[in-house]
Amino acid sequence: HPNLSYEGDRGLVMDGTSLTDLATQHDTPCWVISADTLRRRARALQDAFRARDLPVHCHFAVKAQDHQACLTVLAQCGFGADVVSGGELRRALAAGIRARDIVFSGIGKTDKELELAIRHQIGQINVESVEELHRLDALARKMQQRARIAFRVNPDIDAQTHSKITTGRAEDKFGIAHDAIPALYRKTMTDMPGVELVGLAVHLGSQMVTEGPFRKGYERIAALVRTLRENGMSVTDIDCGGGLGIPYRDEQAPPPSMLADVIADTLGDLGVRLHVEPGRWLAAPSGVLLGRVIDVKEAARRFVIIDAGMNDLVRPAMYDSWHGILPLRTPEDTTGGDVVDVVGPICESSDIFARQRHLPPLKKGDLIALLDAGAYGTVMSSTYNSRPLAAQVMIDGQRQALIRRRQTLDELLAQETIPDWLTTP
Ligand code: LLP
Repeated sequence: HPNLSYEGDRGLVMDGTSLTDLATQHDTPCWVISADTLRRRARALQDAFRARDLPVHCHFAVKAQDHQACLTVLAQCGFGADVVSGGELRRALAAGIRARDIVFSGIGKTDKELELAIRHQIGQINVESVEELHRLDALARKMQQRARIAFRVNPDIDAQTHSKITTGRAEDKFGIAHDAIPALYRKTMTDMPGVELVGLAVHLGSQMVTEGPFRKGYERIAALVRTLRENGMSVTDIDCGGGLGIPYRDEQAPPPSMLADVIADTLGDLGVRLHVEPGRWLAAPSGVLLGRVIDVKEAARRFVIIDAGMNDLVRPAMYDSWHGILPLRTPEDTTGGDVVDVVGPICESSDIFARQRHLPPLKKGDLIALLDAGAYGTVMSSTYNSRPLAAQVMIDGQRQALIRRRQTLDELLAQETIPDWLTTP
């Protein structure tokens, strides 16, 4: 983690800002995201494509990190957005991303969401099924518009990642079977005046750390493009999806240059506009979740109970995922170490951040950081156990701002009403 280091009294520092200071100022649990790291990673990704002279348009997968401040940072780096709902579309627009730089993916887009996308004339809608195609064509014609679309292909390839984040197998709900594409492509070009079909999209899965599935997937797309062209159909855009993984633990995660090489090898000579939709690779290492030790419970195991829970960061409970944990005080202050379970306060056995992890000794009141929490963290939080949504802070060089204040219990309760009939006699 090049953005994290220990600096004496300031303890763990992220891109120049003491995380202890932030935890003290904003209380815990508290998310911190570094605009600097986001920008650095955005540029690294763009440079990888530029180095191979690939005409790649980068669309940030908003689902990974949807805060408007983060979207603004990425928009300023030239990123568009990949959105999966009307809500994310609104966010992307609010953050200043131009409609033509927005791609709308998603397996269940409602008529309302499609109308919103058509009305804003967004860059591309990735169509997931024949049923959706018909709905979209009818809606666009009714609105006297033409929606730019691509077909999301289901290439039937196993991304070799956690099954819950694998999306490109035939049994997964995503995309249109690749062997059904040519016939549907033709039918769309001849019979559907409401849509302008520009090409194909594919997304295989997330946290992919091997090259094989990317290569296989894109080869399959390239073969499809050739078939379509041989049959007189035009393909101008290929959306390569997201999926590039990061080393949460000791995975040998490949750099963006691998992705760029694979795309260059497989799709580079087709003369198409290319698009990618990375989320995790950009955002995960840019953020941490800060928590404080409530108690260290001595039982069959030593349990370090912290004030952040699975309602804040659900990934370990949901995918058995591993997140690094660092104490915020300088390790020189500590001696020896402990094998502990780091757990949250939620009444669920799965509310565990780390099992039998070797950590420097932690005691009540100590602060810790859960690493690589900038993607699929805040966005997946809930208020389970009536726990208000945590605060979010952005740091940017010398600057810092509270970008989402901690939800209050009053706000949480105020959203509910008790029907009169229950309380009036
Ligand atoms: N494009 C599409 C169509 C997607 O479905 C996804 C992620 C992405 C792009 C971005 O993928 P990325 O570059 O972030 O891998 N909540 C899970 C991850 C779910 C990913 C779903 N789709 C997790 O915390 O691991």
